[in-house]
Amino acid sequence: MAISIKISKTTQSRIHLCDFENIEFGKIFSDHMFRVDYTDGKWQNPEIIPYGPISIAPSLSAIHYGQSIFEGMKAFKNDAGGALLFRPRDNARRLNVSARRMGMPEIPEELYMAGLTQLVQLDKDWIPTKEGSALYLRPFMFATDDFVGVRPSVNYSFMIFCCPVNSYYPKPIKVKIEEKYVRASSGMAGFAKAAGNYGISMLPSYEAKKEGYDQIIWTDGNSHEYVEESGTTNLFFVVNDQLVLTPKLDGNILAGITRDTCIQLLKEKGYQVEERKIGVQEIIDWCKAGELTDCFGTGTAAIIAKIAAIGYQGNDYELPEAEQRVVSNYLYNTIYGIQTGKIKESHDWSMPL
Ligand code: COI
Repeated sequence: MAISIKISKTTQSRIHLCDFENIEFGKIFSDHMFRVDYTDGKWQNPEIIPYGPISIAPSLSAIHYGQSIFEGMKAFKNDAGGALLFRPRDNARRLNVSARRMGMPEIPEELYMAGLTQLVQLDKDWIPTKEGSALYLRPFMFATDDFVGVRPSVNYSFMIFCCPVNSYYPKPIKVKIEEKYVRASSGMAGFAKAAGNYGISMLPSYEAKKEGYDQIIWTDGNSHEYVEESGTTNLFFVVNDQLVLTPKLDGNILAGITRDTCIQLLKEKGYQVEERKIGVQEIIDWCKAGELTDCFGTGTAAIIAKIAAIGYQGNDYELPEAEQRVVSNYLYNTIYGIQTGKIKESHDWSMPL
């Protein structure tokens, strides 16, 4: 059954205020947003309305107890000016994985897709076309009970807004292997895209910034001997341009859609890809032997974030120059090519609107 969404268009577009040549990540929002509310056990009244503040109660349970989850997606334009989404249904499914872990209601995939596609269609002029840019889409769900008792909320909102963005990291980043703080441990919610997982990364990444690093690499909660993910991306390590390793999905890390895309593309290209536990000491040994030829983070916002140096216990290990990176350059060019419709692919990852 077709999903009917009430659309109230803005009377004053703000698109002329956006400098598409100089976009800063996450600061400018398109004209409209999607909203649907969960009340009386069902999702009701889907609507697209002008982007703007929403009214909430001070006792909103999402604020107090953190029942809040999100996704990150992107829309691109092809050469003919048509809008393309990248693996949108995978994001819808992952949001529901997060929802289950956080005791929140799942959103029907068709409702998610209807809200998303109609919103992007309406704000398609906001999709930037400069190399590396995209319209970032932020679907999110939060608990809306006006109640301070600790129990799963009864009411929720699901919303999507959009912002034109450039690449999240404009240049290769310097990361520090974190040994003090922990992001997730067995049985926690590391695999969920839950707001709290990002909240707890603020202090460690701020402390790392003060030491001159752009990001941290989380390690396991038991021993700090194995790497997990970075503050904003999954991680890949390339040994001698042949063997590609990424931490396995053990419940503590996010099942990144860009991560999965990279694994599939690399295997198809004939690379040996291993998803397994990766020891910090192994990484340091590869660095010392000059065998770590490439290392990068993957994520929707970052796509491929090359790692320029890894800091561990007071030493910085420099990695090869960005131009020499065979694997990360191949992945970036292929993924961005697929996302913008320049490279044809057989996976049905790119969805035209
Ligand atoms: C994304 O890549 O979409 C993310 O969610 C990372 C983010 C925190 C910017």
